[in-house]
This record gives sequence, structure tokens and C-alpha cells, in this order.
Amino acid sequence: MVVNIERLYSKSAKMLKASEIRELLKITQIPDMISFGGGLPNPSAFPVDIIHKCSEKIFKGEIKNALQYGTTEGLHLLRGALAERMKKHKSINCELHNIMITTGAQQALFLSAFCFLDPNDTYLSSVPTYLGAVQAFSAFQANCESIPMTEVDIDIDSLRRNLKRLHKTGINPKFLYTVSNFQNPSGETISLSHRKELLEIASEYDFLIIEDDPYGELIFEGESIPPIKSFDKKGRVIYVSTFSKILAPGFRLGWIVASKEILDKLVLAKQAADLCTNVFSQYVAYEYINGGYLDKQVLEIKKMYKRKRDIMLKALEIYFPKSVKWTVPKGGMFIWITLPKRVNTSLMLQKAIAKKVAYVAGSAFYPEGGNYFSMRLNFSYSEDNTIKEGIRRLAEVINDELSKTYKEEPVLQEGV
Ligand SMILES: Cc1ncc(COP(=O)(O)O)c(C=O)c1O
Repeated sequence: MVVNIERLYSKSAKMLKASEIRELLKITQIPDMISFGGGLPNPSAFPVDIIHKCSEKIFKGEIKNALQYGTTEGLHLLRGALAERMKKHKSINCELHNIMITTGAQQALFLSAFCFLDPNDTYLSSVPTYLGAVQAFSAFQANCESIPMTEVDIDIDSLRRNLKRLHKTGINPKFLYTVSNFQNPSGETISLSHRKELLEIASEYDFLIIEDDPYGELIFEGESIPPIKSFDKKGRVIYVSTFSKILAPGFRLGWIVASKEILDKLVLAKQAADLCTNVFSQYVAYEYINGGYLDKQVLEIKKMYKRKRDIMLKALEIYFPKSVKWTVPKGGMFIWITLPKRVNTSLMLQKAIAKKVAYVAGSAFYPEGGNYFSMRLNFSYSEDNTIKEGIRRLAEVINDELSKTYKEEPVLQEGV
């Protein structure tokens, strides 16, 4: 008898959708394709020699535990080193019992959703937002209420309006999800005053904040702003970060900082999911911090990504038409492009791919749809010399599109 597998899937499994970005990553494997699509770190930022050094003790047989099962919370040494780092670099007041090592930040988001979302629950998310978070949250059949980002910050007025409206209908969101620094996808950062205000509003309406911060260390200019978590005295913020952008995503190492109460629940959820995070990677990451390599490596990565950002910004100035706007991120890996409203970047993508340049259409970052006239460009992955050429190709596609929908004179200059 043929198995009718659809009939057997759980409701949650039926909710799962293929990510547009993961699909796009396949296209970007085509030779000569210049991809600004994926959100990948540059492979030359992976500290291979340092990783080799940090693994030596394991290969000499000095750390047998590195090959054994570990505790669900994670390696004691690594959690201690992270607690120190969180205090020193982020002003987050935390102890060992506030930290759990996860299989990437992605698992931290999934476990948080597992612990707090029931079907038909509501959560808030600033938009545009990280697609992976929406994917994790929608597995629990929850509803997203989008809070827009203005040109420079999260739209607090819209948050208050939405909360009042929800409150009237008896809906109390469980949490607000936001990426506080150099957001994926927009490159924007939430200001200090808005961070404090978010926490006040969360307290007023009694919801949690999931603060996702994978890019905070990758700051190119200006002062870094303390995380929302650093102002949290009541255990209302779940802070999430990762080694993916400061060591290597292949290690699959992230961490959560939360109140002991929340963390204990998250530990139980993780135990059910995978018992523990990869212990080998955790030992290497501990040596990476303890040996003083992390700080030096972060400086190298920042230098490289700032250079790539500047090349991309300069190319945008030269090649892109005046009617196109973009963010100037002070760190991270992404620039957000806003085109005139009549351009549909999802439809335009095929034309871009035909010219061997790829991006992610903006609508992918809106859980409730919309904003089809924007796009995300990643500047960390491409080689310096291909960034310029990729932007030139993309400008050609955009100019072509605009010439069909607009009277505007396309601008196309030579040379960067
Ligand atoms: C905002 C954000 N959160 C979480 C993740 C997932 O990170 P990890 O590789 O640690 O799972 C990413 C990955 O790009 C991201 O951009």
C-alpha cells in the first residue's frame, strides 16, 4: 500500500516552508555568479591556523572529554569564559547559571519558541526581520505582528499602537523578537533610547524580549551600544548570540543568556532536542577565547568587512540611479536597498540571475508579506574585485527595469 505521508504529518510539520534564501543559495553555486544573496561570512575570515592550534590538545589526547557526551548546559569552561565576556564587553550582569551553549543561535531561537509559543499565540517582530527566526517561530503555529523599522530605528509609536489594538481584543503577545545591532537584513541598529523604551514597554504589557545579537561584535565605526539585556533587572530579556560570525558557522555554536528560571526550562527543551551541543567545538571555542585569539580575530574580520562595505557603498554611489536609496550600516554584513515602489524585486530577480548577479528580494523578510520594492545585499562574502562588478551588473538590471516603468533617466557611469 502506498503511504499517504501528507496525512500523517503533524500540523507543525505542515507549517514548515522552504526558505527562499536557502533555495537561492543553490542558484549562487552557478559558475561566474556574483552572489550578494546568502548571508555568509567570508571563508578567508575563518582562522584555520588558530583552530588548528586550539585543537592540538585534543589530538594529543590531553582532553579526552572533548570526544565524550557533555552536559546540556554546555562546557563549564566555555560558559565561564562567555559570562566574563558578556560582563566585560556587553555590560550584561550574568553568572554561569544564566548561560547555555546552543547548536548555533538558530537553536536558541527554536528552543525559546518551543518554551513560549502555543498554537495561535502572538509574538511581535521588528520588520524587515531575520527569516530563520520566522521559520523557527512559525513551526509553533504562532501569529506574527510586525513592527516596522523607520529609516533609522524601530518604530516605537507603531509598537504602542499595535499593542493597544491587540490589548483591546484580548491578545497579549508572548515576546518581541529583534536583532539589536546591524540587523539582518537592513543593517540598522536600535538606538540606546529605544532599547530602554522597548524594555519599559515590555514591562508595561508583560511580554519577553528575544534579543538576537550575532553582529554586535562586528562594529566598524562609532561606539557600541549596550544590549537591551544589560538594562534588564527582572529577567525579561533572552539574549542570543553566536560564534558563527566571529569564528566559523560550521562549528554550530551559539549561546543564550537568560534568567535562571527561563534557562532551566530551556535546558530541558534542549535535552529533548539533542542532549548537548558538539563538545569538540566547545573545547576549541574555549581555547579560542582563553588563548586571546578571539579579540585579535574579530579585529581582522572587522577590517575585512569594513573594506568590503566601503567598496560596495562606493560602487552603489557610482552605478545606482539616484532614485534608489540604501542604508549605510556601521557594522555587520548587510546593506538594504530601497527602490522606487513600482519595481518588484522578486520579479526582477530572474533578470538579475540571467546577468549573473544575485540578491534576496526584500519581501522575503516580511512575515506578513509586502515591501516588494526592496532587496538585501550581503557584502561580506564576495571577493573585493567582484563586488564592484556585481553592483555594475545589478545597476544595469535596475536601470533596465526603471526605463520600462519610469520616465527617469537611467544613470550609468563607468569606473569605480
Ligand atoms: C539575525 C540572525 N540570527 C541568527 C542566525 C543564526 O546563526 P547561527 O549560525 O548561530 O545559527 C543568523 C544567521 O545568519 C542571523 O542572521
